[in-house]
Amino acid sequence: MSTRTFDFADLAGRDQYKLLTGLVVPRPIAWVTSLDADGVLNAAPFSFFNVLSSEPPIIGLGLEPRPDGSLKDTAANIRERGEFTVNIVSNALVEAMTVCAITFPHGVEELTEAGLTPAPGFKVATPRIAEARAALECKVFQLIALPTGRTIVLGEVIAAHVADAIVNDRLHVDAHGLDAVGRMGGAAYATTRYLFDLDRIDPAAWQENHDPGQRRPHASWTPPRKC
Ligand SMILES: Cc1cc2nc3c(=O)[nH]c(=O)nc-3n(C[C@H](O)[C@H](O)[C@H](O)COP(=O)(O)O)c2cc1C
Repeated sequence: MSTRTFDFADLAGRDQYKLLTGLVVPRPIAWVTSLDADGVLNAAPFSFFNVLSSEPPIIGLGLEPRPDGSLKDTAANIRERGEFTVNIVSNALVEAMTVCAITFPHGVEELTEAGLTPAPGFKVATPRIAEARAALECKVFQLIALPTGRTIVLGEVIAAHVADAIVNDRLHVDAHGLDAVGRMGGAAYATTRYLFDLDRIDPAAWQENHDPGQRRPHASWTPPRKC
């Protein structure tokens, strides 16, 4: 396979962005609700997002500055209040999510614009999105201000809301019920509707059966299943 190698020291920021967002895919989308100092509710999507630790339960967000260098409302609110909620984006809500990415004047509540309903928080003052099938309430664990004006937010999850229909008594989440959407590069998105199982390999069985140097054929595809 012929490859191209890119030295990031030679790449403009925009090109670094293009490669990273094209290669690290699909990225989950944190649909973040937050409150400003006056209690105005804000909502915006962020795909520089993932879970980084389960004990303590830490999620990470990457918040870019606005083109004029000022903080996005989400970053300002999280700094101000020290808390926020991550709502999970299901396929049915993807268009409403994009409404919340519009740069409205400060004070306009995106959820109202998108026809969505706030629901009270449990351990945070920040409302969650009632229509979201899952939401994670977070308090700030650490804020990292990067020299380029970006803010890395490490949030500790202190409560989760999950629709009854998609979580069982053993806390297994039904991935098809969640129907989460991921972000690819540019305007592209991915669904999680085509899943397959791949069991972990037992080391003893591997030692006994493997054929050195031979790659195993890909596991067979399985139809969508309920967890
Ligand atoms: C799917 C999606 C993912 C996004 N991911 C990010 C991101 O990771 N970081 C970021 O700074 N902006 C991201 N944006 C842009 C913000 O959502 C947008 O700037 C928004 O207006 C910020 O709103 P706020 O000022 O209310 O915080 C994303 C937009 C979309 C549609």
